[in-house]
Amino acid sequence: MGKMAAAVSSVATLATEPGEDAFRKLFRFYRQSRPGTADLRGVIDFSTAHAGRSTSPGTQKVVRSQLSVSSVSEHNAHRAGLRPVSKWQAYGLEGYPGYQWHWVKQCLKSYSQKPNVCNLDKHMTEAEPRDLWGQSKGLLRCKELNKRRPRSLLEKLRWVTLGYHYNWDSKKYSADHYTPFPSDLAFLSEQVAAACGFQGFRAEAGILNYYRLDSTLGIHVDRSELDHSRPLLSFSFGQSAIFLLGGLKRDETPTAMFMHSGDIMVMSGFSRLLNHAVPRVLPNPEGEGLPHCLETPLPAVLPKDAVVEPCSVEDWQVCASYLRTARVNMTVRQVLAKGQDFPLEPMEDNKGDVTTEDFCHLDDQDNQVKRARLNLDS
Ligand code: OGA
Ligand code: MN
Repeated sequence: MGKMAAAVSSVATLATEPGEDAFRKLFRFYRQSRPGTADLRGVIDFSTAHAGRSTSPGTQKVVRSQLSVSSVSEHNAHRAGLRPVSKWQAYGLEGYPGYQWHWVKQCLKSYSQKPNVCNLDKHMTEAEPRDLWGQSKGLLRCKELNKRRPRSLLEKLRWVTLGYHYNWDSKKYSADHYTPFPSDLAFLSEQVAAACGFQGFRAEAGILNYYRLDSTLGIHVDRSELDHSRPLLSFSFGQSAIFLLGGLKRDETPTAMFMHSGDIMVMSGFSRLLNHAVPRVLPNPEGEGLPHCLETPLPAVLPKDAVVEPCSVEDWQVCASYLRTARVNMTVRQVLAKGQDFPLEPMEDNKGDVTTEDFCHLDDQDNQVKRARLNLDS
């Protein structure tokens, strides 16, 4: 507890800005935090929590939570590229590396394609097909050699939406903006949801976030889904991040925790509608490296009916180069309750089209530059 107090007192040295709530204050603290210093002492680390170490000041708040192990067969876990269910570790907050390569490759090479929607769509014409992967792979491979090469399209990618496409302006999903949800990701989500006690979970919408090292995700609540009794699943890959989980109101001080590559966060029940944010992506301490669990290739003995597929060495080189300075997060949501339909909405004039271009809740220097240009233009 002493360490917690120390961390809190260093937050306390940060002057509160006028009208600033507790969440925003901690967001600012971690946004400017320096890895390798005392700044990160207050961040819960689930990867060390299970060892029963008391080095993590947040350990007191972490409890092991029970999974519904019998709801998922070992075979289905294997098909989804997950380790045996008996080895899953789940934690709740009081008050063997999985097959991550597949999901990273899907986020970069497959999910970024049509019919899915992404922030770069507005810059592409029907006549000029967008092959993000094709355009980027050469550039990414010479990333180490030439730091001043042009930015690849993948490096400009910030978000992709799947299934019912989230509308960033209206903050709504709608019946008429739907494309098929990727079946592999739906299967993975169903297994994870079932293990958490949510049988019959339906993966209907996905938001994929592509973070650069300077990206932040603003403070928000995911309330656009119509059925809040279903969990929200979040899968993290690449560089670690600090995740802040707050209360129902923003004046509650949030809890800081690390999200490492391969971590799955399930927001359900009371935590489904809590404020949260990502103030900081942390570069790998060993320079421009990958987290350890991504470096080790896994022996690919997959069952015949696996939904994950082996990733070629060539493809992985591109993914690895990208991930050295990036974090990818996939969130999967059930939008409608079973049998529910979208409510009929009165026709709105299409003011959505004239608001800030590719607005999203991810922010970084690139976006700030873009916003500044837009303001100059208008
Ligand atoms: C989201 C979200 C968290 C993360 O996309 O709504 O909260 O860890 N993502 O990126
Ligand atoms: Mn969220």
